[in-house]
Amino acid sequence: MKEKLDNIIKNAQAELSKAENTKELNDIRQQNLGKKGAFTELLKSLGSLSPDERPQAGKIINEARMMFENMLTEQEKKIKSLEKQIKLSLETIDVTLPGEKSSIGSAHPLSLVRDEIENIFIAMGFEIAEGPEIELDHFNFELLNVPKGHPARDMQDSFYVDETRLLRTHTSPVQARVMTTQKPPIRIICPGRVYRFDEVDATHSPVFHQCEGLVVDRGINMAHLRGTIDVFAKRMYGSKVKTRFRPSFFPFTEPSAEVDVSCYLCGGEDKNCRVCKGSGWIEILGCGMVNPNVLKMCGIDPDIYSGFAFGMGIDRITTSRYTISDLRTLFENDMRFLKQFQGL
Ligand code: DAH
Repeated sequence: MKEKLDNIIKNAQAELSKAENTKELNDIRQQNLGKKGAFTELLKSLGSLSPDERPQAGKIINEARMMFENMLTEQEKKIKSLEKQIKLSLETIDVTLPGEKSSIGSAHPLSLVRDEIENIFIAMGFEIAEGPEIELDHFNFELLNVPKGHPARDMQDSFYVDETRLLRTHTSPVQARVMTTQKPPIRIICPGRVYRFDEVDATHSPVFHQCEGLVVDRGINMAHLRGTIDVFAKRMYGSKVKTRFRPSFFPFTEPSAEVDVSCYLCGGEDKNCRVCKGSGWIEILGCGMVNPNVLKMCGIDPDIYSGFAFGMGIDRITTSRYTISDLRTLFENDMRFLKQFQGL
């Protein structure tokens, strides 16, 4: 028995001194103390000894086992500290190495212009309103005085999701949403994405952006509309520009107008101007006095309140503002192109 124990201890010592990591240590622990381990087997064999011998034998096995456990703990300490050192040395950072440059990027020109539009109108006391991009026909058309079968629907050939819902063709439904839920005075703009069944070319895209505006209060008249749009144009294109209103038609406004801004580049002086193509004017938006039918349908009494509304294409404003000749360049994600507009 004594000899056996000496052997076990000798073996364990040899194994332990070779062990290099926690896994190997655990294996050695298992070999000696596990279910079929050397000590366990010895303890089991106590049964075959006579009752007189048992206490003495049990005592020396236990002493040897404690010795083994002490050796194990010692070695474990050594290995743990070694492993820690290795881990630390792997994690050292060489602060003298050159850093990895991450490029900061820049806001997309459409975002720059949207922010600018928002700031101009917020400064005039407008609030930002939002509406869903999947819109009910009810808001996109019906409440805007465009009933089923109205020819104005053809001009906005659309992406229908089902009988009653479609990808909004303009931001005007937000007007209707705001008027049906809020009481005048109302002063909102609504920038957002809109969708139409348009072929892609230099001036068209099936996904584009608009910004809607709506003011409803007592005594609102065309002069308020004129003044608001003029302030907007001057802030966006420069204080020298003029605006002109041309009569137009929209089912949701009466009277309606389209607005041109005088060319900020040539002021109408250059027949070959790349911005206005020699016409001297750039078309920027559609607008008008909110049709009394629309007010009524949205639950606002047209005998008490009146309002004006406008809608502009953010993509159009962006291409005209930055003299971009092809709308597609805004969507191709070429960083060399997109980066140029920051801080212009
Ligand atoms: N919704 C119109 C369009 O997409 C733009 C528009 C014109 C909006 C006149 C208005 C407005 O609010 O009064 O072409």
